[in-house]
Amino acid sequence: MKKIMVTGALGQIGSELIAKLQKEYGENNVLSTDIRQPQSSVSGPFEILDVTDGKKMHEIAKDFGADTIMHMAALLSATAEKQPLFAWNLNMGGLVNALEVARELNMQFFTPSSIGAFGPSTPKANTPQDTLQRPTTMYGVNKVAGELLCDYYYTRFGVDTRGVRFPGLISYVAQPGGGTTDYAVDIYYKAIEEGQYTSFIAEGTYMDMMYMPDALQAIVDLMEADPAKLVHRNAFNVTAMSFEPSEIAASIQKHIPDFTISYEVDPVRQAIADSWPDSIDPSAAVAEWGFKTKYDLDAMTADMLEQLRKKLNK
Ligand code: SER
Repeated sequence: MKKIMVTGALGQIGSELIAKLQKEYGENNVLSTDIRQPQSSVSGPFEILDVTDGKKMHEIAKDFGADTIMHMAALLSATAEKQPLFAWNLNMGGLVNALEVARELNMQFFTPSSIGAFGPSTPKANTPQDTLQRPTTMYGVNKVAGELLCDYYYTRFGVDTRGVRFPGLISYVAQPGGGTTDYAVDIYYKAIEEGQYTSFIAEGTYMDMMYMPDALQAIVDLMEADPAKLVHRNAFNVTAMSFEPSEIAASIQKHIPDFTISYEVDPVRQAIADSWPDSIDPSAAVAEWGFKTKYDLDAMTADMLEQLRKKLNK
C-alpha cells in the first residue's frame, strides 16, 4: 500500500481516513475522490468522481498510479431505506466498478461492510464471524452482496480484497448522515449544546460501536496484514463496545451530571436496529490480523466531550 485512491473521501469515514493515510503514507500518495466538491480545501490531490462511472474511476486510478483502492462511497442504512432502488444502484454499481478497477489495474482493495449485513435470524449475542446473514434492509442486502463479491473477486481473479464489518462509528470530526447508529454521535453534541437528548432509538436497544481512531487504525492494520494469514476475504467482525442509549447517557452524566435523556422512537430506525445483533464477536479479526482497540465507552466519552467542547467553543 503505497499509492492509495479513496472514493467517498468527503463522507463519514473518508474525511478522517484521508488524514490518517496521509500521515502514514505521505500527503501526495493519497488521492481523495468524491461526487461533490469539498466545502473547504482538502489537502493533497482531489478528483471529482461519481462511482457509478466505472470508466472515469479507471482513468483516475491509472493516472494516479494507485496500487490500492479504498471504496468508501455508499449510502447508510436509513437513507438507503428511503430510496432502495437508488441505494442498490449506487452501493452495488459503485462497488462492482471499484472491484473491476482493482482487477484491471492489479490493486489491493478495501471496502467496509457493516453490522447491517446481519438480520433478525442471525444469532444476536456474540454474533460469530461466519453465520446466518439474511438482512431485511436494502443496506444489508447491499452489504451481503458486497461481501460475496469480495470473496468472488478474490477466489476467481486473485484480487487482494479486504474488509471489515464496522459497527456504529463515533467521531467528533465528521457527522454521519442517515445511519441507524447516528444517535450515539448526536447525543454528545446535544449533551454539550442543550444538556439533554431525545433519542430516536429505544432504551434497551444494544448495538456495537467503535470510536473513529480505532476504526481507522483497524483499516490500516488489516491492509498491512500478511495476506497468507487472512482466511476471510469478505469482511471481518470488528467492534470495541456494545451499549444501549441509557448506558451512553450514564457515561455522559459522569462528566455532565445534569444531562438527561428522553425517548421519541423513530419506528423505521428502531426496526433496523432491532434487526441487527446486540454484540458481535471479533475473534477472527484478532486471530488473523491482530485487531485491537484502545477506547471503551468511558474513554471515548471523555475524549468526545473534550474534543467537542473545543470544536463548539463551549
Ligand atoms: N452506522 C451504520 C448505519 O447506521 C451501520 O453500518 O447505517
